[in-house]
Amino acid sequence: MTDDFTSLRKTLEARYSCRAFRPDPVPDETLQQIVMAAGRAPSWCNAQPWKATITRGGETARFRDALLAALERDKPAPDLPWPESYPGAHGARRLECGLQLYEAVGIARNDRAARTEQSLQNYHFFGAPHIAIIHSEAALGSYGAMDTGGFITAFTLAATALGLGSIAQASVAAYAPMIRTHFDLPESRLILCAISFGWPDPDPPANTFRTTRADLSEIYDPR
Ligand SMILES: Cc1cc2nc3c(=O)[nH]c(=O)nc-3n(C[C@H](O)[C@H](O)[C@H](O)COP(=O)(O)O)c2cc1C
Repeated sequence: MTDDFTSLRKTLEARYSCRAFRPDPVPDETLQQIVMAAGRAPSWCNAQPWKATITRGGETARFRDALLAALERDKPAPDLPWPESYPGAHGARRLECGLQLYEAVGIARNDRAARTEQSLQNYHFFGAPHIAIIHSEAALGSYGAMDTGGFITAFTLAATALGLGSIAQASVAAYAPMIRTHFDLPESRLILCAISFGWPDPDPPANTFRTTRADLSEIYDPR
């Protein structure tokens, strides 16, 4: 095992979806470092279809307010259709991570109102001082989206390595038309995901649990 692998594993294992942040802003130079590091992700033909539109200062609150208004007004209209179903083990894992969150924050299984309240936190960015809107070139289709998935992972790992918390959010990308209008992005950009990020607040219950992972035998198919 090399030192490089040990340190990569450490970062992979330290990353988690952070759902409570301190309000302090991240310096511009650090934002640039994260985006430059994430930009090392591979892409088909090296097309690098991704771009991160990142709010700072009052722009985060301005976007949050516009998003909350869209939540009241618009129907979800994600650029990438949401999954139709989560068959078998996928559904079980989905259920487990949801229950872990609700248990951590003390929400009973059948308390729909409290669940809705918790999921609304997505649109307050869990108190993060920054949100990155991650978009890709529409003409590159599914492959552009796949490449940009790698960029998203690399972004969250770079943030972790710098001591920051982050969370990818499909829930925010559901308001893609409003996001394009708000940030003056052309129709040719697919809104894939948002990433709320900043300095993590370790104490709130939402940050105290960690999700599980499948055993090697479930994800490794040696032939
Ligand atoms: C593309 C993508 C979209 C996600 N969207 C949301 C979201 O809208 N809200 C949320 O609370 N978590 C969201 N998550 C976080 C996942 O629930 C989380 O990554 C998963 O449960 C594994 O937990 P971990 O990130 O703590 O390891 C998203 C993750 C990804 C990769």
